[in-house]
Amino acid sequence: MGRQNMEAPLLDSDHVHLLVANEKKGNKNWNRALRFFFVLLTFSIVGLIFRDNWSYLVVKGGYKYDERIQVRGPDCVESEQGVVAADDGRCSEIGVLMLKKGGHAVDAAVATALCVGVVNPMSSGIGGGAFMIVRSSSTSQTQAFDSRETAPLAASQDMYMNDIKAKYRGALSMGVPGEIAGLHEAWLRYGRLTWRTLFEPAIKLAKEGFVVAPYLGLSIASNGRMIMNDPGLRQVFAPKGKLLQAGEKCYNVELAQSLEVVAEQGPDALYNGTIGEKLVEDVKQGGGILTMEDLRNYKVEVTDAMVANVMDYTIYGMPPPSSGTLGLSLVMNILGSYGSADAAKGDLGLHRLIEALKHMFAERMNLGDPDFVDITKYTSEMLSISYAKQIQQKILDNTTFPADYYLYRWSQLRDHGTSHFCVVDADRNAVSMTTTVNYPFGAGVLSPSTGIVVNNEMGDFSAPTEISPDMLPPAPANFIRPKKRPLSSMTPLIITKDNQLAGVIGGSGGMSIIPAVIQVFLNHFLLGTEPLAAVQHPRIYHKLIPNVVSYENWTVIDGEHIELAEETKTFLAEKGHQLQAKSSGAIVQFVVQTLQNPIEMGRKYGKGSNIYYGTLTAVSDPRKDGKPAAL
Ligand SMILES: *[C@@H]1O[C@H](CO)[C@@H](O)[C@H](O)[C@H]1NC(C)=O
Ligand SMILES: *[C@@H]1O[C@H](CO)[C@@H](O)[C@H](O)[C@H]1NC(C)=O
Ligand SMILES: *[C@@H]1O[C@H](CO)[C@@H](O)[C@H](O)[C@H]1NC(C)=O
Repeated sequence: MGRQNMEAPLLDSDHVHLLVANEKKGNKNWNRALRFFFVLLTFSIVGLIFRDNWSYLVVKGGYKYDERIQVRGPDCVESEQGVVAADDGRCSEIGVLMLKKGGHAVDAAVATALCVGVVNPMSSGIGGGAFMIVRSSSTSQTQAFDSRETAPLAASQDMYMNDIKAKYRGALSMGVPGEIAGLHEAWLRYGRLTWRTLFEPAIKLAKEGFVVAPYLGLSIASNGRMIMNDPGLRQVFAPKGKLLQAGEKCYNVELAQSLEVVAEQGPDALYNGTIGEKLVEDVKQGGGILTMEDLRNYKVEVTDAMVANVMDYTIYGMPPPSSGTLGLSLVMNILGSYGSADAAKGDLGLHRLIEALKHMFAERMNLGDPDFVDITKYTSEMLSISYAKQIQQKILDNTTFPADYYLYRWSQLRDHGTSHFCVVDADRNAVSMTTTVNYPFGAGVLSPSTGIVVNNEMGDFSAPTEISPDMLPPAPANFIRPKKRPLSSMTPLIITKDNQLAGVIGGSGGMSIIPAVIQVFLNHFLLGTEPLAAVQHPRIYHKLIPNVVSYENWTVIDGEHIELAEETKTFLAEKGHQLQAKSSGAIVQFVVQTLQNPIEMGRKYGKGSNIYYGTLTAVSDPRKDGKPAAL
């Protein structure tokens, strides 16, 4: 039942409503005029809320990257040179700083990931794991770095038999963390700056303090009891016995020290050294089973990215245990088998998308870690045009069906949290990275001696005795084995057209990620919606069970009201969909490169180049308080 609580909308707090309590649904033009007014109003209200702490708006500091940080900048930036779109403006700026120093997109990604781990510690950090897609423009090679957590060696299928809650909360829910190993592996192959350089901004933020952004503030408030109950979390997020609020400064000196040691000594400090030893000791104190042997055994998996062809685009993403690339491929192939691009447009297109998503969710629970289970049948089905056609024929335009129509067999993975960012550099190398500690503040445990938030990724495995909210049996392909990786919804993607970079996309929000990424993709690449509008557009979600379409209706943290159109709701209701308003949703970061048709190569940087350099547009989702940054 604790899981239900954790699905509670993070942003549905009085203080957010207060910011925009005056906004009324008027006509569209009036709304637009209002929005400008609201930017001003929000600005002043935020000022009032933060009172003397205007430093949140323009953080001053000794370092160059601090002076330029304007957290309430635009949600959308353009550049010919390079962009970073993270879910925190400070981290986008830090990524761009690395590009400015001559760094590769991977250098920017490492610095951005470390920053996000410090300032958004509820979502990610070096105690968690990640998926990273890297595309090199000069070789056109696109690689997948799987640094997802693995089950510890002492883990077993039945380890949560007597206490299923321990799969989600407490140190026993921890998987072996992979983030630092993954970042290092990518940096070894592509990095141009020194490893140390990439750590400096994050160390400074952790050591000298960073201002708690509104989203973190809300997350601290809604997890207050859990934070107060854990000595490690309390020390960082309630240092004087009182929970930190947005606008206040947060320090994580122990994390700064850990990062310092990893910056100096490399990942071995964590995987075979003092930081690892301290972490293991803290986890053991908390009842966990992580050992030094687990850390020494941890391996990043580097493969070619999984490829799917969607419309006229090629999509590069993570192979399983991510279900994102395959999920997107199946849904897009279903929509594609109507034989016309118009099939996915309008309200009818949305109905078809919902139906396709339901079939996809049923299918994807057959997936698991391919190192442990044979999933080739399901992988090829989810990539197959003819399989998609069979499913499309089961979708009717006049109705929806009860959940069992979709041939579900297994209970759904309901993962959580996470953070996504996109990077493109001046050479058009690109990184798409999604990183997570799973639930907000992971296991609800912060290792006091290292400052590291402990993930609860074991929660993403299926357990034989678990009774899930959908009352379905657990998926055997996703049962626990030592060293196995749990199934994931994380969907970092790089999109190309005619072998040129067209976009970078991904999102956070667990089970909502795949539907959100698909909707933004369709909005932009099918309907031609501008990148920012493609991200802002209200979305729908579905969990298969309950058999309910959730639609967005909420006022997000930057004051914008996002609500599905009345006509669309009516249309869907007429098809028999049960509808439910939702005041939360996935967060999507999106970068697009404008391509000409036909694409002319080497526009700017010399003849003979076969790389196209178009204008880059980067969007950070206004649903969270992230801002993109440009070189
Ligand atoms: C761990 O460090 C020791 C030396 O302290 C070294 O002998 C060993 O090979 C290292 N193990 C791994 C897996 O790196
Ligand atoms: C939907 O259309 C099919 C034929 O395509 C028909 O058999 C069925 O009765 C219709 N269902 C509803 C609910 O109108
Ligand atoms: C949408 O949300 C607003 C508050 O933001 C609320 O007043 C309204 O009733 C909601 N509409 C629906 C259909 O839930």
